[in-house]
Amino acid sequence: MKNLKDLEKSIKEDIKTLDPIELKTKYLSKKGLLTEALKKIKESKDKVKYGKKVNDLKQTLEKVLVSSKRNTKNISTDGKIDPTAPFDVNTREEKRPKISDIKGSSHVLLKERNKILEIFQRMGFDMMESKQIDDDYHMFESLNFPKGHPAREMYDTFWTDENFVLPAHTSTMQNRVLKFFEPPIKVVLPGRCFRHEATDASHEHTFYQLEGIYVSRDASLGEMISVLQGFLEEYFETKIDIRMQPAYFPFTEPDLEFVISCPFCDKSGCSICGQSGWIELMGCGMINPEVLKAANIDPEEYSGFAWGVGIDRLVIMKMGISDIRDLRAGDINFLQMF
Ligand code: FA5
Repeated sequence: MKNLKDLEKSIKEDIKTLDPIELKTKYLSKKGLLTEALKKIKESKDKVKYGKKVNDLKQTLEKVLVSSKRNTKNISTDGKIDPTAPFDVNTREEKRPKISDIKGSSHVLLKERNKILEIFQRMGFDMMESKQIDDDYHMFESLNFPKGHPAREMYDTFWTDENFVLPAHTSTMQNRVLKFFEPPIKVVLPGRCFRHEATDASHEHTFYQLEGIYVSRDASLGEMISVLQGFLEEYFETKIDIRMQPAYFPFTEPDLEFVISCPFCDKSGCSICGQSGWIELMGCGMINPEVLKAANIDPEEYSGFAWGVGIDRLVIMKMGISDIRDLRAGDINFLQMF
């Protein structure tokens, strides 16, 4: 900086373009231009005139910084954060963007989950959310998986040191719902599930399921199939090629799986359907009498059915997404397509 005129010009221009932190760093930090100019007062020929001009410039700059809406108090003059500096709560509020200024939208999984819930609401189902951390009793015992049952292996998930479990399915809520409500019961429960999976195009370690529980005096397998087929046709808004195949769940008897023909390869086999031509959408079946008994419901008087459908699987099928992992990869370009 050759002389004070240049310094003044530079400050005036920077006030218009730089933010307070940049201004403070450029001019008032240890090696800032104004700090340097202040040091030169002693050496100047006309100390009074030079000193007054530099101090005027300093005051102008400080006024701008003080009147600035931004909080610069916890930025020290060498530009580093000083976390011990007093914090101005009001300034912090002003720094926050207003909700109305934020441009964004719900994630495709949330939007689709809401559409799915709407369909079941129209069918007369109530809604509850499932827990994201649970215990062995709800994950296994209450669902007829006693300790050492080999089928526990099918639900390999994550455990805490305190023996809590990240649920591998939303069926953890069955016992609670059956105890809480009086039959007839019609409830759907969306929830996040976790599995210790080798992930691939149709398997994630974290995904959503929707559990459905229906109990009445005369619930039947035929009724279950018509509810689930009705739901799938409503959700996909078209007739779809669905197949039912036998399955095994300790908490239902008999058990079924709903599978859908793979839209990505037209049943010829690809990486998404594991070369089978079909993709599994949900497991379901008539609630095992042992599960009803564990919730103090008399299986002689009542029967019920339940299902667990993979929300992420429904969404990739409907939207033609060829890799389930894209849903959680956080790629803004991908998410903007929905
Ligand atoms: C179960 O989780 C049973 N609780 C379902 C059930 C509920 C049966 C009530 C009977 C009565 P299964 O492991 O098959 O079953 O998973 C159900 C659905 O969750 C699958 O069809 C699939 O759509 C979805 N799913 C399972 N694992 C994954 C995964 N790793 N990634 C994405 N979706 C998955």
